[in-house]
Amino acid sequence: MSEAPSVIGFYSPTEDEEIWKTRIERDLPTFQFELLEQVEEKRLVEYALVWSPPNGLLKTFENLKAIFVLGAGVDALLRDPDLPKVPIVRLEDAGMAQQMAHYVIYGVLRFQRRFEDYENFQMIKQWEPLVNIEPIEQFPVGVMGLGAIGSVVAEQVSKLGFPVLGWSASPKEIDGICTFYGDDGLASFLARARVVVDLLPLTTATEKLLNRDFLSRMSADAFLINIGRGGHLIEDDLLEALEKKVIAGAMLDVFEREPLSAESLLWSHPKVIVTPHVSGITMPQVALDQIISNIKLLESDGIPMALVDRKKGY
Ligand code: GLV
Repeated sequence: MSEAPSVIGFYSPTEDEEIWKTRIERDLPTFQFELLEQVEEKRLVEYALVWSPPNGLLKTFENLKAIFVLGAGVDALLRDPDLPKVPIVRLEDAGMAQQMAHYVIYGVLRFQRRFEDYENFQMIKQWEPLVNIEPIEQFPVGVMGLGAIGSVVAEQVSKLGFPVLGWSASPKEIDGICTFYGDDGLASFLARARVVVDLLPLTTATEKLLNRDFLSRMSADAFLINIGRGGHLIEDDLLEALEKKVIAGAMLDVFEREPLSAESLLWSHPKVIVTPHVSGITMPQVALDQIISNIKLLESDGIPMALVDRKKGY
């Protein structure tokens, strides 16, 4: 009797599983693709490909060799108290960095060229050229988090001619970017940036970092773009900062609770742009390239790329 094939299990509330099944079965023919919630022989599951699995789901697979996250952030997964102690591999860029750079470029140009004002003028049919546009040389863009995504965002914004500042927890050097790090570097970074872009991972060190004190260190004519995680921002502190004109506006793609509740004052705030967690969407074929080559590496006793450091939380 032949042995049943090992299983690559899949769980995602948002992805079209057929795309994943087709590629996995084509490129890893010794494995069978199954939905994690429907697997009958749990001991056969060796790899789990997941996005937002319910707590406890993964602990039921005793022969799991690694968990692959279908995104860049692993904060939600690490909150599972029963998470098996196997290697976790996240996506590194996988097409997200460029999309996120475009999102940031849209925001930066919108603020710098004052498109929001023109939207308001149009509503009241007001023809009013704003001639005192600030030169881009005087409009520094600050990127917080200089990993696989942040470094691409910083480079692409810099290519447009905006001065770019970077901030990270530990020292990093990127050509053409003025970098700061740690608590000591944060105050100078925040004082200089006209747009602060949050691209940090959500960890115990970064949770609620974007709070009243942080916002008060930004300049009064600066804007916040949050495409990191909603858990970084205290939304009430932002609303208060906007009310008191501590900062000038915000563009938010991620929220403390998603979907954003209909009651949230952020929806209708004139100085806030809300988008539904779409700044960087996982591109399945690029993600599959990464995951498949990482599974091949693991199968030949290699070390996968983009291994998560559980202690650091990313
Ligand atoms: C999305 O938020 C991701 O982490 O990929």
